[in-house]
Amino acid sequence: MTLPGSPHVAYRGDTLHVEERSLADLAARFGTPLYVYSQGAMRAAAADWQRALAGRDHLICYAMKANSSLAVLQTFVRAGCGFDIVSGGELDRVLAAGADPAKVVFSGVGKTRAEMRRALEAGVLCFNVESESELDVLSSVAATSGHTARVSLRVNPDVDAGTHPYISTGLKANKFGVAHDRVIDAYRHAATQPGIEVVGIDCHIGSQITEIGPYLDALDRVLDLVEAVESHGLRLHHLDLGGGLGITYTDEAPPAAHALVAALLERIDARGHGHRRILFEPGRALVGNAGVLVSEVLYLKPGEAKNFCIVDAAMNDLMRPAMYQAWMGIVPCRLRDGVPATYDVVGPICESGDWLGQDRALNVQPGDLLAVLSAGAYCMSMASNYNSRGRAAEVMVAGENAWLIRDREQPAELFKGEHLLP
Ligand code: LLP
Repeated sequence: MTLPGSPHVAYRGDTLHVEERSLADLAARFGTPLYVYSQGAMRAAAADWQRALAGRDHLICYAMKANSSLAVLQTFVRAGCGFDIVSGGELDRVLAAGADPAKVVFSGVGKTRAEMRRALEAGVLCFNVESESELDVLSSVAATSGHTARVSLRVNPDVDAGTHPYISTGLKANKFGVAHDRVIDAYRHAATQPGIEVVGIDCHIGSQITEIGPYLDALDRVLDLVEAVESHGLRLHHLDLGGGLGITYTDEAPPAAHALVAALLERIDARGHGHRRILFEPGRALVGNAGVLVSEVLYLKPGEAKNFCIVDAAMNDLMRPAMYQAWMGIVPCRLRDGVPATYDVVGPICESGDWLGQDRALNVQPGDLLAVLSAGAYCMSMASNYNSRGRAAEVMVAGENAWLIRDREQPAELFKGEHLLP
């Protein structure tokens, strides 16, 4: 049985493996729910982007919101990547993982003064500024602290990325970026502000994009803006084309990173912009297919309308189905003989929205292990403690090696910062 997603997650005989390690063995050793990642898959994904950009001045800034566990970040530090951060917390995390601040870009619509100050002190490569009011605040924070903030404006190109409305960001109706018709004035204003150095332009149109077309549309609009801005005597050294490349969860067929990059470079060169530094901010495409969530089947509950397969992982561990009705593959860690039945795979949380998959054909018994596939991105990083559930443990696999990279969160840790009333 071949699985969608990464070749690093595959059956050997009847047993599901991540690289050389069987998930059943890892679950026996570390317990469930358990996130297991393939470091090889992450490294291969990063290499695909980097190879496509070889010979160009470029930086792949891993959008760490997709998975910000330290060992994941460290993997990308070692692969030579930069990082896209969206908070002071992400800055602290990525520095703790050994990142070079000079390879960090700071995005986000709501940066606070404290976050700006911290990022200026650290010396981040660039602030991706999302509004004119943010620009003014950044200017005053930088000027009063004796720093210069290198700035790109995140422009909203008003293109439809053709993805889920919650993860589409490049339309006029979205809160992100400087509106297309304000961009020139905003740049001219930026150039006159103390503490600001204009260095580039940025756009990010959405997430889980499975076609090249929307990227090319956005690129054309961005290049039009670059030409218009430079006609006013400003220089934009880099183009940051954001992230958003989709992965295969089921039958999606997104372009490979190298194909996307090749198409964009061709257009960039054709329009005479080939000398510029190119940045990308992929998140999901670097980690999504590298991870699985392993969970134990607790109970089977046949019913008139539905059969339920109740597992020990829940929406707090993996929010995407509840939040976006996202379809994620669910497969047994060991194949059994026999006829499958149709189940809704649900967790123990007291919400009807607590499901991981609906109407799935599964041949399982209580005590069996299931793996949710393509769970490397936006799963652990979006986990919560709802129902006072500790977050899952995480393991990184590289070949035969398996390292525990995050302890299972214990109940007492969940309330250690709380105080009883006197
Ligand atoms: N750059 C910026 C400015 C972003 O806002 C994002 C994602 C990225 C890069 C990386 O996008 P990616 O390459 O991962 O698509 N939680 C949702 C996805 C939210 C994406 C938010 N921004 C999900 O689970 O589908």
